[in-house]
Amino acid sequence: MNILILGGGGREHALAWAIRQNPKCDRLIVAPGNAGIAGVAECADLDVLSRADVLEFAQGNAVDFVVVGPEAPLAAGVSDALREAGFLVFGPSQAAAQLEASKTFTKEICDACGAPTAAWARFTDAAAAREDVTARGAPIVIKADGLAAGKGVTVAETIDQAHAAIDSIFDGEFGEMSVVIEDFMPGEEASFFILSDGTDCLPIGTAQDHKRVGMGDTGPNTGGMGAYSPAPVLTPALQDQVMDRIVRPTIAEMARRGTPFQGVLYAGLMISDGQARLVEYNVRFGDPECQALMMRLGGQALDLLLACAEGRLSQTGVTWADDHALTVVMAAQGYPGPYAKGTEIRGLKALPETSFQMTFHAGTAERDGTIIATGGRVLGCTGRGATLAEAHQRAYALIDAIDWPQGFCRRDIGWRAL
Ligand code: GLY
Repeated sequence: MNILILGGGGREHALAWAIRQNPKCDRLIVAPGNAGIAGVAECADLDVLSRADVLEFAQGNAVDFVVVGPEAPLAAGVSDALREAGFLVFGPSQAAAQLEASKTFTKEICDACGAPTAAWARFTDAAAAREDVTARGAPIVIKADGLAAGKGVTVAETIDQAHAAIDSIFDGEFGEMSVVIEDFMPGEEASFFILSDGTDCLPIGTAQDHKRVGMGDTGPNTGGMGAYSPAPVLTPALQDQVMDRIVRPTIAEMARRGTPFQGVLYAGLMISDGQARLVEYNVRFGDPECQALMMRLGGQALDLLLACAEGRLSQTGVTWADDHALTVVMAAQGYPGPYAKGTEIRGLKALPETSFQMTFHAGTAERDGTIIATGGRVLGCTGRGATLAEAHQRAYALIDAIDWPQGFCRRDIGWRAL
């Protein structure tokens, strides 16, 4: 098969690395890719948000299967354009991608299918939103009602923080015109990844990530500074509960509305007293959770994504090893605030690249034979082992072999489970 992956981050490097191992994969193209992805696939310079450009590229390159990595092309309807033209695609339609693109949409789906989630209200003007927060008290959760690259959520500990978050959303920080205000849910957060072909569902792994930039889960939110899989808090019994009360009802409600969900549903969950409630849905793999998941799934990932796209999930299963994987993100100093670009990263070529240790590139490029940092989150050093401690040791061994004075990482990824 000729396979095209859209995206150019650590998630897409991990997808490409896993898919490349499957003998069904002949030609692998990633658009736009990055310096690490160039080691396992061809990189193509393509505007992945342009339906016309992606379609023309797929037609011109005899592509058999398209895997859409990030949410933005999904929200832009790229998968619809490809499907209408007869391509096999992994990734939901624009209508189904509303599960990530609109907080209000997800809350309405939860209400319609009875999925447990926090009580909520939506406001289109700042004064009414501020009044609601004052009446409900803190802690309270303020969300921009749209795609905000993982940054549109504030867990406000005080009314003042909540008011500031509301003001920044209505001041246009995210280009948004509405906010969703939710009750704060205490507990432990975990992520659950489920493939759905529109009718059937197949869980493919659990993970926990570290969203805060600082040690001990402190400091500002980021896209994720590290992750590990599996998440011990999501026991098999709890996974069954989530499938029965949250995931299957959601998939059935989406189908009932005539907008079936086909792709990976990433359920962000809050666990408390043996009960799981939905925090949010994403309609793509988490980043860096995908890096840990792909290390565990390996080449079978392609078979699973194909079964999902072809509507064959009821006849498909996952082959699990009794293993653990852990990813540590190296970011440019200053991230998630302003950071320098173009600094040189040394030592990457000497690193092992095995099914136990992989360094996935997120924001890198090659310039005159050297690898330079081009983004905030730059590398995802991933270890896999029989225990989480072994995976942790292997991931940090990679980190310690990298020579990049302008980079940093958290040294405590996995602390909760370890
Ligand atoms: N790691 C969080 C996300 O991908 O949204």
